[in-house]
Amino acid sequence: MTIGGMFCLEKHQPPNASGGLVDKLGGEDRRFCMSGRCAIYYCLRDLMERDTKRVAYLPAYTCETVVAPYKKAGYTLLFYDVSPKNLVPRFNRELIPRISVLALCGYYGFSFYDREFIALCVDAGVAVIQDITHSVFSVDGIEPLADYNAGSLRKWMGIPSGGIAVKRKGKFSLPLLPPEEAHIQGRLDCFTEQERVTNREPGASEEGVDAIFWETELRLRRMFDVYESDPFSAELISRYPWEDLFRKRRDNYRYVLSQAPFGSGVVPVFPELGEGVCPSHLSLYSPDRDAAQKKLESLGVKSTFYWPFHGECSLSDFPGASYVYDHIYSLPVDQRYSREAMAFLCGALRELANSA
Ligand SMILES: Cc1ncc(COP(=O)(O)O)c(C=O)c1O
Repeated sequence: MTIGGMFCLEKHQPPNASGGLVDKLGGEDRRFCMSGRCAIYYCLRDLMERDTKRVAYLPAYTCETVVAPYKKAGYTLLFYDVSPKNLVPRFNRELIPRISVLALCGYYGFSFYDREFIALCVDAGVAVIQDITHSVFSVDGIEPLADYNAGSLRKWMGIPSGGIAVKRKGKFSLPLLPPEEAHIQGRLDCFTEQERVTNREPGASEEGVDAIFWETELRLRRMFDVYESDPFSAELISRYPWEDLFRKRRDNYRYVLSQAPFGSGVVPVFPELGEGVCPSHLSLYSPDRDAAQKKLESLGVKSTFYWPFHGECSLSDFPGASYVYDHIYSLPVDQRYSREAMAFLCGALRELANSA
C-alpha cells in the first residue's frame, strides 16, 4: 500500500446531487475562478476601486501564491507572525492605523485567530480578505465579518480550476476573463497521467505526473490574472457532496490521533480535533523534517511540506513563522482513504516515532 500523491479527476456529479457548498459560502456575490490566486486577485481588484492606501497585513507564514496577488496589485506588504502552537496569528494592534487590508486565514482546517482583532479592523475601516483555502469546510471557516472570502479547492479534490471568490456585501463590479485554455489543458493532462499511474499502466510514473504538474503550476505563477473557472470545475463544486468529505476527513484525523504514538520527535500541530473542524491534512512537527519525510516515504507514506518560505520578509523578525517553516510537514487524511489505509499510516508513524 502507498499513501499520498495527487488526486485523480473527480467524476461528474449528477444534476440532482445534494451539494450545498454555495449556501455554506453565503455572501451576496460569488464567482468561481481558475485558481485560488486568481480569486484573491479578483477580490483585490474589486477592493482597489475604493482602497487608495493599499497597504496589506499578511501572515508571515503563508504560500508565495498568496503573496503574489497582493504584489501584482501593487500593495505595500506588512507581515504578522504566527505562534507554532496551534498556528495562532500574532497580530499587532498598533499597526491597524497603517493598514488598509488584513489578509486573514486559518491553517489546515483550524481557525484560531483573535476575532476581536477582526472587529477592531472592521471598526477602523480596514478591509478583510479571508483566505478560505484551508478552512472552507470547517464550521467556523468562513468569517462573516470579512469583506471577501477567497481561496482554492484544488488541494481538497481533483478539479482543474477550484478558485472561489465571495463578496459578502454587494456585487463584484469587474468582469472575469475567460478561463485560460492552455492552463486548463495542463491540469487535465496531469489528471490523465495520474489516472495512468493509479491504474499501473506501462510507462506511467509519479515523476511524469510531477513534471506536468510543475510545468503547469510555474506557468500559472507567471500568468495568473482574474480568470474564471472552467465550467466543469464550477459545476462540480456546486454539486459536490461536501458533507461526506467533512465526515470522512474528521473520522480519519480522529482515528490517527487516537492510534499513532506521538512524542517529542513527531508532534501534531493540532493535537485536538475541535468540533466542526474539517482538517485538510494531519500536520506534524519534527526536529529533523527531512529525515522524517524520507523515513515515511520509505514506509510508503508520501508527505508534503507547505510552504517553502516566500522570501518577502525577514524571518528573523518572525520567530514563530521561522520555526514553522523549518519543521512542519503534512500527511493526507482525506476522503480517498479507508480505515485500513489510516491504520497503515499509523503503522508508519509508529516506526517513525520509535526511530526518532
Ligand atoms: C493558503 C493558500 N491560499 C491560496 C492558494 C492559491 O491557490 P491556487 O494554487 O489554486 O492558486 C494556496 C495554494 O497553495 C494556498 O495554500
